[in-house]
Amino acid sequence: MIDTHSHINMVEDLALDEIIKNAKDNGIQKIILPSASVSDIDTVFELTQKYDNVYGLLGIHPTEVKDWTDSLEEKIKEYSKSPKIKGIGEIGLDYYWDKSFNDLQKNVFIKQIKIANELNFPISIHDREAHKDTFDILKEYNKGSTIIMHCFSGSVEFMRECTKEGWYIAIGGVVTFNNALKTKEVAKEVPLDKLLLETDAPYLTPAPFRGKENQPSYIKYVAEEIAKMRNISLKEIDKITTATAERIFNI
Ligand code: NI
Repeated sequence: MIDTHSHINMVEDLALDEIIKNAKDNGIQKIILPSASVSDIDTVFELTQKYDNVYGLLGIHPTEVKDWTDSLEEKIKEYSKSPKIKGIGEIGLDYYWDKSFNDLQKNVFIKQIKIANELNFPISIHDREAHKDTFDILKEYNKGSTIIMHCFSGSVEFMRECTKEGWYIAIGGVVTFNNALKTKEVAKEVPLDKLLLETDAPYLTPAPFRGKENQPSYIKYVAEEIAKMRNISLKEIDKITTATAERIFNI
């Protein structure tokens, strides 16, 4: 199994060695580590050099875009020469926390889409309460990068619009929450070859560990829930989503 979106550098309760060991002990062979803040760009690069099963995505999260400077583009391109850097992320739009700098979010999002296109990298997209703008910007500006809708929070209809574009839908711990009916429906309906699994650790910890910090080893609870809902085996979900992740991220 592969955790396709996991901020293992933000987990506070466990040491990194322990997180990696727990993951390996539970059959999670590879972890994709996205960056969010400016300082993450260095951290992600360093951790990908240290741990052989950790691969990195570079980019600035929409809530952090006030810290964007154009010199970051050079840094991202330089680090991307490493075979351990596999994409751009997480980037996108977040209208949940603060709507006062939506235009800046859009500008920095577009700049980073262009970097991904230039590097021929997949993109891990953060879209929170910004489905329409995220979709429209990707349609207009993305030229050829594979799109992964991380922590997908839209409706089944929006999921269908995305998969029609060839984009991938990543689902995490939310699918285990009893009240997450929309996400459950998406997990049931999404074409299996467009599905990816993720934890978004240390956030969105699946049941039965809700309230604790999340970690890659908990991805099996996400996979189990989806397997149960779709009435297929855990092995089948594992096989298909692992192959998809390996192909998209070239890992
Ligand atoms: Ni994230």
